[in-house]
Parts: sequence; structure tokens; C-alpha cells
Amino acid sequence: MKFQLFQVLALATVAAALPSAQKLDRPLKPPLKPLVINTLSTFAPSGRLGSSPYSFFNVSFTDPEFSNTTVQCNTQWTLAEGDTVWTRKNTDCLIDPKSKRVGEWSFQLLKPTASGEGASLLNNFMLHLRHDWSSGVHVATQKFNFDGERNIGGMCSASGTCQFGLWEGVERPYLVPQFKLER
Ligand SMILES: *[C@@H]1O[C@H](CO)[C@@H](O)[C@H](O)[C@H]1NC(C)=O
Ligand SMILES: *[C@@H]1O[C@H](CO)[C@@H](O)[C@H](O)[C@H]1NC(C)=O
Repeated sequence: MKFQLFQVLALATVAAALPSAQKLDRPLKPPLKPLVINTLSTFAPSGRLGSSPYSFFNVSFTDPEFSNTTVQCNTQWTLAEGDTVWTRKNTDCLIDPKSKRVGEWSFQLLKPTASGEGASLLNNFMLHLRHDWSSGVHVATQKFNFDGERNIGGMCSASGTCQFGLWEGVERPYLVPQFKLER
């Protein structure tokens, strides 16, 4: 009796595991050429009276999948915007007028962990870039981590302003994987 129950449970376990196993076995789409990050900078103001209240995040990258189109994505915010800066969709991405224009770029800054512990818009965040275009397909980078352990360097000055960016020592070109998704 016990043995039969075990068999039933084992079969149920196999059946439950099957769908996800099949997903993993699905043939992978051919990889896209990674994005090349040209510059990435973050800034936080001193907060002193009379100084600019804006923090900002700027990234510029080149997309070898689209004739090396160069894109500059910026966003800025004030302290009052608080947590809304995380996860919001930023669409202020300018495609270099000299480049071929294909679709629209947008990006999100995400907390690097579920708990959000240690997250910082200056030097500990995930960048999620997204590229939509008319054929109904979009390309997104993986949620790519930027932090002081791997790729971000910078400092806060005595006046209280902070400035960080892609650490000078990182390998160049600095590549960020991207993958294609059907809508
Ligand atoms: C894009 O840039 C890379 C690196 O500079 C170069 O090897 C490649 O030929 C360029 N592709 C196009 C389509 O311009
Ligand atoms: C970053 O973008 C802001 C606008 O959001 C701009 O004022 C600033 O000059 C830019 N800084 C860099 C280093 O590109």
C-alpha cells in the first residue's frame, strides 16, 4: 500500500516537473549582438539651499544589431519623487540623428534585490533597457546590474554632491547582453 502511494506521488512529481522542463529545452533563439555602453553616469545633488535639486541618470550606448545606432537615455528627478523613480518607465531616449532610427527605446531602473536592501540610484541598481519597433517585436537587455562590486565607481564630494559612473577600470567595450522577445 505504501509502495503504491509512493509510485503515485513520484508520477505526480514527474508530471508537475514536465512543463518547466519542456520550457527549458525549447531551442534558444540566436543570440543578438550585445549593446556597447559608451558612458553611464549618475548624479545626486548636495541638497543645499539654492543648489539644483535634480538627481540624474544618463546612459549612452551603441546597438550593433541596428547599424551601430547610438542612443542617449537620460532621466532626472527630485528627492520629492521618492520611490516612484524606481521601476517607472523612462522614455527620454534620443537616437543620434546621424544614426538610423529604428523604433523607440525606453528604460527602467530597478532595485537589485527583492527586499530592495542597499539599492541606490547612484551606484546599486539594475538597468532594464527596452527597444520596441513596428514589427511587433521588442528587444530588451537582461536586467543588468550596476554596483560598486563590478562596474561602478565614483564619489561624493565634501559639498555633498555625488557623482558615479562606469568605473574606469572595466573592460572596454563594455557589453550588455540583449535578447529578442515576441510580443
Ligand atoms: C559597428 O561597429 C563595430 C565596432 O566598431 C564594427 O566592427 C562594425 O563593422 C560596425 N557595424 C556597422 C553596421 O557599421
Ligand atoms: C545628463 O542628463 C541631464 C538631463 O537629464 C543633463 O542635464 C546632464 O548634462 C547630463 N549629464 C551628462 C554627463 O551627460
